[in-house]
Parts: sequence; structure tokens; C-alpha cells
Amino acid sequence: MSFIEMKNIRKDFGNHTILHGVNMTLEKGDVVSVIGPSGAGKSTLLRCLNHLEVIQGGSISIDGEYLAEEKNGQVVYADKEIAKQILGKMGMVFQSFNLFPHMTVLDNILAAPIYVKGMKKEDVLPLAEQLLEKVGLYNKKDGYPGSLSGGQKQRVAIARALAMKPEIMLFDEPTSALDPELTGEVLRTIQQLADENMTMAIVTHEMAFAKSVSDKILFMVDGVIEEEGTSEQIFESPQSERTKAFIQSVLR
Ligand SMILES: Nc1ncnc2c1ncn2[C@@H]1O[C@H](COP(=O)(O)OP(=O)(O)OP(=O)(O)O)[C@@H](O)[C@H]1O
Ligand SMILES: [Mg+2]
Repeated sequence: MSFIEMKNIRKDFGNHTILHGVNMTLEKGDVVSVIGPSGAGKSTLLRCLNHLEVIQGGSISIDGEYLAEEKNGQVVYADKEIAKQILGKMGMVFQSFNLFPHMTVLDNILAAPIYVKGMKKEDVLPLAEQLLEKVGLYNKKDGYPGSLSGGQKQRVAIARALAMKPEIMLFDEPTSALDPELTGEVLRTIQQLADENMTMAIVTHEMAFAKSVSDKILFMVDGVIEEEGTSEQIFESPQSERTKAFIQSVLR
């Protein structure tokens, strides 16, 4: 069994099926990028993986445990305790940072370990400070999010997710809200995680980055994986006409 297995995922919003039997598997340490046009279902796929959305068909397993499993044609979710344990392995970073504006940078990072995991502040502090060093923002620890640039905010958001010690990181267009000159610092932080063998699923429009960081690329369109392969396969010799057209349009 792979480390992460999403099999035959169907996701409906009302009467509309948005994901039509999508498969995504990652081995430990893999970096997978999901690319594709707007509305393809990329965000929805990530949101299904960490249970921000409920699926209507298929199964999701992480590290050998089912978060959702199909039984007699019905999707059954793991009970609360098991789901909590599985979801605790994943951290997610969004396009829009979602920092707590009324808390200092340091407190943003301390919050989840303290309030979700029930840890003592003095026990989390060393890790929080170490993570701020890692993302190059230790000197901003007493500042408020409002005083940071977009790129700095996003690096705090990454440090905040890492403070929960995830084994898997999900990124949904982490640089899309940033001015072009600020994307590099965020992408370098993600690259550093890849170098440390973090397992990651990344939705991105940064094609050069996706190409260089990914072990595998999924090209998604209209709720299906149109094509999947290595960076070389997808970017240098795409097979499907739709993949070719997309790659041409984004590399132009
Ligand atoms: N909560 C929701 N309710 C109804 N429809 C939704 C909801 N979320 C997403 N959708 C629809 O599902 C489809 C896929 O959306 P999704 O956000 O996953 O696309 P995406 O590939 O991430 O696009 P983008 O590149 O623009 O972020 C779209 O048609 C969208 O309108
Ligand atoms: Mg999206």
C-alpha cells in the first residue's frame, strides 16, 4: 500500500459531480504537483484529502489507515479519534495565509500545538523559534501579521503548519496571492522541505517550480486526471492533446 492513496474519488457539490473517479498516490517523501486550468478540481482534491470536503465515492488511506472507505457502495469515514490521528499527520497551507491578525507571529505558531494538542507553551517554544529561524523570520517573532509582506506571511503560515509536526504538507497555490518578486522566497522554503524529504502535494501555477521540485505531476482537467507522469514526461513529451495544449499555453 502506498503512503497516501486516494482511489476513484468522486466528489459532488449538489447535483454536480466535480471529481470523476480521481486517483492520486504518493510514496513517503514524494512531491506531487497538481496542475491544470481553473475549475479543474485541484483545490477540491486537496480539500478531500484532508477532510475539508466529504467524498461521495472512493477511498482515502494514509499510512495504511483509512480515512474514508467504500463499503457496499457507501463511503464510510473513520471514527472521530482515528480521523483526528490521521488528519494530524497533515498540514495545509492556503493561498490566503489565514494567519490570526490579533496574535504575534510567534503566537500564531504556538497556537495550534497549545490549543489543539494541549502542549505547554514552554515545550513548544523551542520548536516554534527553530521554525521561525528556518523560514528566516526569527527577527519578526514579536511583530503582527499586518506588519509583514505577503511572502513573509506565507512563510509564517508554513512555519505554523510545521509546528504541528506533520508528515505530509499540502499546498494550495501558496504563491498565487503574492507579487511576483515575493514568490521566490516562498518557493525556496517549499524546496527546502522537499530537500528534507517531506511528503508534499502541491497545487500550483508556477510551472518552472513544479517541474523542478516534483517527482510526479498530475495534469487535471474537468475533474479527471488527464495525464500523469514525471516532470520530463509531462513538460517535454505530453501524450494527450489537452495536456499539450495546456503546457503550451502556460509555457508561452
Ligand atoms: N463549495 C462548493 N460548492 C459548489 N461548487 C464548488 C465548491 N467548491 C468548488 N466548486 C466547484 O468545483 C469545481 C472545481 O473547483 P476547484 O476550486 O477545485 O478548482 P481548481 O482547479 O482549484 O481551480 P482554480 O485553479 O481556479 O483554483 C468548480 O467548478 C467550482 O465551481
Ligand atoms: Mg484552486
